[in-house]
Amino acid sequence: MAAPAVPRSVLLIVSGSIAAFKVPELIRLLKADGIQVRCVLTQGGSQFVTPLTLQALSGQPVHTDLFSLTTEQEMGHIALSRSADLLLVCPASANLLARMAGGLADDLASTVLLATDTPVMVAPGMNVRMWDHPATQANIKTLKERGVTFLGPVSGEMACGEYGPGRMVEPADVLDAVLGFFRQQVRQTGPLAGKACLVTAGPTHEPLDPVRYLANRSSGKQGYALAEALADLGAEVTLISGPTGLRPPAGVTVSFSETACEMQDLTLDTARSKAFDLAICTAAVADWRPAYVQDQKIKKKVGKDDVPPPLALLPNPDILAELSAPSSFRPQLVVGFAAETETVEAHARAKLARKGCDWIVANHVGAGSGVMGGSENQVILMTQDTAEHWPRLSKEDVARRLAITLADWFSKRHKSL
Ligand code: CTP
Repeated sequence: MAAPAVPRSVLLIVSGSIAAFKVPELIRLLKADGIQVRCVLTQGGSQFVTPLTLQALSGQPVHTDLFSLTTEQEMGHIALSRSADLLLVCPASANLLARMAGGLADDLASTVLLATDTPVMVAPGMNVRMWDHPATQANIKTLKERGVTFLGPVSGEMACGEYGPGRMVEPADVLDAVLGFFRQQVRQTGPLAGKACLVTAGPTHEPLDPVRYLANRSSGKQGYALAEALADLGAEVTLISGPTGLRPPAGVTVSFSETACEMQDLTLDTARSKAFDLAICTAAVADWRPAYVQDQKIKKKVGKDDVPPPLALLPNPDILAELSAPSSFRPQLVVGFAAETETVEAHARAKLARKGCDWIVANHVGAGSGVMGGSENQVILMTQDTAEHWPRLSKEDVARRLAITLADWFSKRHKSL
């Protein structure tokens, strides 16, 4: 699938803190997201993680010395400081923060940090007393005033056995911050820059009593992947999610609902709150809800009196149909999904007409397809008069392809106006 709209590269500066043991995992996560990583390792950092590990994982030479022939031959320390879109100091030791605040340039890491005008993000990792020390706090204040972004630290148990603030944030949180940074950048330049998109995702839970609910097999993966793919192309994305347990995509505004009625309120209130260019309803909204929700757990009776309780249902609102209806807040383009187990194309075309949306993405969710709750999808993208059969792809690739198709549609529409 096509790469994100802009190249994304990070110069990762690893300094001397025990939290450096988290760096290999961070590099793996960054690379898995297609971000180029090149490492600078301080002398302190090399006590905790080896250059060879960083080199093997990043696939790039690791830079350690200021006066190194290899670094100077390859690009020079000044060029190195400008070689990435983001400088990430992780972990940032108290010592390196002090040298950054003082403007020192006595090793490669501090020189690169002094010679750059690229945005700098730091993830401190140090003992709680070093973190709390007035000298460190003063350095942090100085660096924040200069525009350095701080990730954490968080409170927790330290490698030294003490407890409190100073513990470095986890690699997944650093990844989220980095992705959020790049998504913020691409909002100025990406093919969906300036476009506001609303996405619904996940199942709904319709309670019967405090412990039971009616639900479906939706995992929310397709909707979350779509929110992420749209954000990667520069869109400003609002995700309305049912209960999923998935990690919210970085740089996306997420609101949670449980029932179809809550999702309807949240979606329509959000749609009315500002002009959306695009809405995509991927949520598997329950069509019915129990007519009565019991305050207390429904108890079994004993013996032959144990008759299962009757299940009276009420229809739920159709969120996609309400968003698609002509109104002052209807997004320019409304896309639905159709979950079908048989005669997929015919059912989906009927749904497209019935709901009043502009496009529908039909998918086969029958038993054995592995789509609902799985990680792959096979879809037919249907407009009013076309039907495009896509091959079976990962849900991330379906999302990227759909996001690119949408960006093309907006660009053609813009040109024809
Ligand atoms: N949808 C919705 N609100 C509902 C039901 C569905 O917004 N109460 C949306 C879904 O998010 C999806 C589309 O409508 O975009 C189609 O959903 P689907 O479950 O395939 O169809 P239903 O409308 O529920 O019809 P049926 O169950 O008869 O297939």
